[in-house]
Amino acid sequence: VKKIAVLTSGGDSQGMNAAVRAVVRSGLFYGLEVFGIQRGYQGLLNNDIFSMDIRSVGDIIQRGGTILQSARCLEFKTPEGQQKGAQILRDRGIDGLVVIGGDGSYQGAEKLSKLGIKTMGLPGTIDNDISFTDYTIGFDTAVGIVVDAVNKLRDTMSSHERASVVEVMGRHAGDIALHAGLAAGAETILVPEVPFDLNEVADRMRQNFDKGKRHSIVIVAEGVGKGEEVVQAIKERQPSLEPRATVLGHIQRGGSPTPFDRNLASRLGDFAVRSLIAGESNKACGMIGGEMVLTDIEKVVATKKQFDMELYELASRLSQ
Ligand code: F6P
Repeated sequence: VKKIAVLTSGGDSQGMNAAVRAVVRSGLFYGLEVFGIQRGYQGLLNNDIFSMDIRSVGDIIQRGGTILQSARCLEFKTPEGQQKGAQILRDRGIDGLVVIGGDGSYQGAEKLSKLGIKTMGLPGTIDNDISFTDYTIGFDTAVGIVVDAVNKLRDTMSSHERASVVEVMGRHAGDIALHAGLAAGAETILVPEVPFDLNEVADRMRQNFDKGKRHSIVIVAEGVGKGEEVVQAIKERQPSLEPRATVLGHIQRGGSPTPFDRNLASRLGDFAVRSLIAGESNKACGMIGGEMVLTDIEKVVATKKQFDMELYELASRLSQ
């Protein structure tokens, strides 16, 4: 490859900027020309493509969001849209593309690779729902935000001896709920991967108060349902718990990325560039056991990420 482009697509995540910086600076270091595509696949179809130099990615490693912006693009899901995108890249002589995003973004990269563009996918999402990588870029920061919020909720819940139900993001995955729940010492973690009975949940919460606990934190992954619904269910069963719902929403997607996310993004961005130079294409970059790994995009998209049941059981044991 001689000319590569980079885009961010789907929901943004903290650390995407660090990944863009790594792709641009590694690409330039290895003698490639590097282009940025604004607003994901929509920007590609609009030919919103510009040359990036070393300075164009200065002062962004610490910033949340993505300087390249992101968009959802229906046109790119059609074969005509994909042909058009590949042609636009060819016309500019761009033969390599790094796509930073989640599942949907990976599928676009796979299509472009079939049309002759060498592609690499980087896992950029707070949800940690991409297989063949232990962590996705943004997950660690999002978990930190949830833990910080729960710390604050604990203060006021303890003062009033109330229950707090915190709804967190994650789409269909319970990873944010699990990791934040364990780190925050939540009494209950409700995730789509593990069935639960609300009668038992409410009874256990009551018993915990009776045993001397001064608060009860329930973390609900959005894949399970709304925090407000869980609050209503608890109120019906144990009104004395006075449960309150907090929905953290898009706050979880903002703010400065943690050192872990910045370093993960930096390593993955550089690895994607070196893999393109080595002639690889249609691959997802990930980190498994601390090592950088490449996996066929088809395989990544077709494989559901394994939920960490051991960690879930540990969280249950420790929340007595
Ligand atoms: O994939 C990231 C994510 O924040 C999910 O956790 C959530 O379900 C979804 O995006 C929200 O999407 P939107 O930003 O379009 O409301």
